[in-house]
Amino acid sequence: HLERIPHPPRRLPVIGDALGSNVRTPVQDSMRIAARLGPIFRRKGFGKEIVFVWGADLAAEMADETRFAKHVGLGVANLRPMAGDGLFTAYNHEPNWQLAHDILAPGFSREAMAGYHALMLDVAGRLTDAWDASEAAGRAVDVPGDMTKLTLETIARTGFGYDFGSFERDFEREGPHPFVSAMVGALSFAQRRNVVPPLLTPVLLRGAQRRNAAHRAYLDRAVDEVIATRREAGGGPGDLLDRMLEVAHPETGERLAPENIRRQVITFLVAGHETTSGALSFALHHLAQDRAVLTRAQEEVDRVWGAVEVPAYEQVAKLRYVRRVLDEALRLWPTAPAYAREAVADTTLGGAHPMRRGAWALVLTAMLHRDPAAWGPHPEVFDPDRFTPQAVRARPAHVFKPFGTGARACIGRQFALHEALLTLGLLLRRYDIEPEPGYRLQISERLTLMPRGLRLRLTRRSPAT
Ligand code: HEM
Repeated sequence: HLERIPHPPRRLPVIGDALGSNVRTPVQDSMRIAARLGPIFRRKGFGKEIVFVWGADLAAEMADETRFAKHVGLGVANLRPMAGDGLFTAYNHEPNWQLAHDILAPGFSREAMAGYHALMLDVAGRLTDAWDASEAAGRAVDVPGDMTKLTLETIARTGFGYDFGSFERDFEREGPHPFVSAMVGALSFAQRRNVVPPLLTPVLLRGAQRRNAAHRAYLDRAVDEVIATRREAGGGPGDLLDRMLEVAHPETGERLAPENIRRQVITFLVAGHETTSGALSFALHHLAQDRAVLTRAQEEVDRVWGAVEVPAYEQVAKLRYVRRVLDEALRLWPTAPAYAREAVADTTLGGAHPMRRGAWALVLTAMLHRDPAAWGPHPEVFDPDRFTPQAVRARPAHVFKPFGTGARACIGRQFALHEALLTLGLLLRRYDIEPEPGYRLQISERLTLMPRGLRLRLTRRSPAT
């Protein structure tokens, strides 16, 4: 039932619409095609046809949980060898999804967040130590690199009591922590499998497949060690790992199996850092580009946090304007740039496109967030005031989806928001930031989006804070 859905005009045998597209930028290519073809379109490459949806009305329909559910396909399915039936990659019908969801959800409650606050502050302190040193030496800072260190340390320490020592590591001499190399290697492999035709995979990716097997074996070993250490210690501070190891389902009394725990640890380390790192990086980019926004954000932090040296848990969510800056950055650059939905029964999308049960489409979040029907005539303009309470009320529901939708939406949303707001608050209070002259935003794609090569110049605002 695809005839009514437009596709790029020059469609070739076998390679389909792949001509002129770049394997490194599948999301940005799709965004360009979306702008030409409208709110629903399809792309075909090497026999695979994918339907993309981004119109606000169609995306709202696909958010209806009585008609649609998460689809584990493409990028998400390629992570299965690594993350198995972990929370992010589990099929809806796999019993381990509900089990793990119910056991882990309390690990993301308000009380749990308040419990992570001190560790988050500690990690942020390592970041400001590193940035102070760069500032004193007159060096620009590598934003995506440093944000990735911050978010990886934060999830590893709050979730699992594990310290990668990212900030202390002599990167020039030692390179990244082997766990990080293995994780990044496995992720890039998953991304490449998205764009290499399956029949050619054994040929084109032979070496990569071998390296990937080694990376995965390393990850499993490392995670087993973290678990063994915790068991030997006889338990920890009640973090995610303790929940995984000790908590039984409140109703059934069932527990997570050891193999599943391995998958969950890897899932949380991966899902819990790249996207947040990108969100922080894009927010800092836009703050550095817009003096008026920067000043307003700094004034808010100064006002709300006042003279206290260390912000308390409750003071973080009070940064309302900084939160709008973060939301607006996630609008333009939703770092998880798409999510897939499948029909739970035969249905017709938009009154025009029949879908069989199980048929699926990708919601292209980065374009949904630019639909003029929801965001007005200038969706490319960065404007945090799109997220004032009045502006939010005036918009239809389901037009802002950086954390996905429905039962399978992001479990780590509050965690990410607290971590990002806390970090932005600390940085804004401490530094003036400026872009490097001539920097033009370029987006790199590795399952998630990231501002490539973003470096900022720092000036300390006040030595007292
Ligand atoms: C799911 C985005 C941070 C853990 C998702 C989904 C999105 C998303 C779009 C749904 C994917 C789908 O429908 O296929 C983001 C963004 C983040 C972020 C933009 C940061 C700005 C985090 C953090 C954690 C986390 C910090 C963990 C601490 C997860 C997990 C799932 C998920 C486990 C799967 C949930 C399930 O299916 O039950 N995230 N995420 N995320 N996220 Fe996040």
